Amino acid sequence: MLDPTSSTDVFRVRGGRALQGTVHLSGAKNSALKLMAAAILCDGPVELREVPAIADVPVMADVLRGIGLEVDLDIEAGVCRLEPRRVQPVAPADAVRRIRASLSCLGPLVGRLRHARLALPGGDRIGARTIDLHARGLEAMGATVTVDNGEVEVVAPDLHGALVTLDFPSVGATENLLMAAVLADGPTVIDNAAREPEVQDLARMLVAMGARIEGIGSPTLEIDPVDRLAPVTWETCPDRIEAGTYAMAAAVTGGDVLIERVNASELTLPLLKLRAAGVLVEEGSHSLRVKADGLSSVDVVTLPYPGFPTDLQPQMMVLLSQAHGTSRCTENVFESRFSFVRELVRMGADVEIDGHHALIRGPARLSGATLSGLDVRAGAAGVMAGLVADGETVVRDVHHIDRGYAWFVPRLQALGADIERVSAADLDA
Ligand code: EPZ
Repeated sequence: MLDPTSSTDVFRVRGGRALQGTVHLSGAKNSALKLMAAAILCDGPVELREVPAIADVPVMADVLRGIGLEVDLDIEAGVCRLEPRRVQPVAPADAVRRIRASLSCLGPLVGRLRHARLALPGGDRIGARTIDLHARGLEAMGATVTVDNGEVEVVAPDLHGALVTLDFPSVGATENLLMAAVLADGPTVIDNAAREPEVQDLARMLVAMGARIEGIGSPTLEIDPVDRLAPVTWETCPDRIEAGTYAMAAAVTGGDVLIERVNASELTLPLLKLRAAGVLVEEGSHSLRVKADGLSSVDVVTLPYPGFPTDLQPQMMVLLSQAHGTSRCTENVFESRFSFVRELVRMGADVEIDGHHALIRGPARLSGATLSGLDVRAGAAGVMAGLVADGETVVRDVHHIDRGYAWFVPRLQALGADIERVSAADLDA
């Protein structure tokens, strides 16, 4: 189940059932992977809790072992213990190329060793995803950055503080610069910094390790360097994107689902849009109850946090395809994230794309189809479409979904979904 290379499995989904029941969620994929990388900076053991049982976590563990950390991962318990042993600046290319998050080793390696060399990472095919903002920020801190032969090398013997203003509030660039700055020689200010809850989670763990960071959650981070970072035990923040995905799956199937371990304050815009679409959303202290019976159209614009998250755009497109009326969805973060729409239209959705804008007319009857080549979030959205489509939908390349959603099939089955994981060979048999 957690083998990230098992691209032979598929999900077989039959539509028509409303999701009912309770789902207890994991720690955030886009925090846990960075918290693991931040262990590079520590002069002792780091213990992470609520680490999600997703395929990217063992891959990141391999990357960090290649860098010289001792990593003990108990994926069932969601506990990961990491301790730097003989940290060296070069990461193993084969593991690095499998996940974009491996890029998050750049900042801590530069912060600790003043040197890093990484193969340019892989990950989702949702856009160019260059690293110019990472490079320019590190150069402002005195580094020399070379991108050549599919590798990025950073050399910074005199790494110093700087005022860095990001053209775009890049999550990865903010995190890398933050992790380079906490041990640099001199103070750093990162302006137009990303404010995502996962960035905040990383910053708060660094502070718990002894870092001096002001402005967490604001667009301006001020870092006063320290000489060392001490061991820490840290609980990964909840996964707001996973929570949003289950909320939209509950809504689009006309279900009634209680989602546990979620901070509603991190989903303000998605919940506002669900309510505007007629969905009943009740907020508990760390839970959400989502109940729907009929959906109406709303307009959505994806933006960096606290805007509507791009990682919930494909899932929202499925919901809007079932809403009464015409909705408009504007994707401002990743230029190729509408690629999922082609698959949704093949199932019968009425969607017109015009550049960054999609016009969705609903409700449209969806028919089951075979879907493939979908990234983490589009794959989850494809499953959602299968939950409401007539007949059977087969979602291939499910290793992408395994990268971002722990126990996806068992959790949906527990909510009443007619879904199973089979090997492609069994499917054709
Ligand atoms: C993180 O990617 C997440 N991944 C993404 O989640 C998420 O969609 C994204 O942030 C935005 O919230 C992880 O945390 C592992 P960015 P990241 O740097 O850091 C451009 C998922 O499904 N850009 O904020 O790569 C870039 O091309 C994944 O969980 C530059 O131009 O996102 C993109 O258009 C998908 N130059 C935009 O900024 C740079 O140097 C946002 O990128 C860096 C980024």
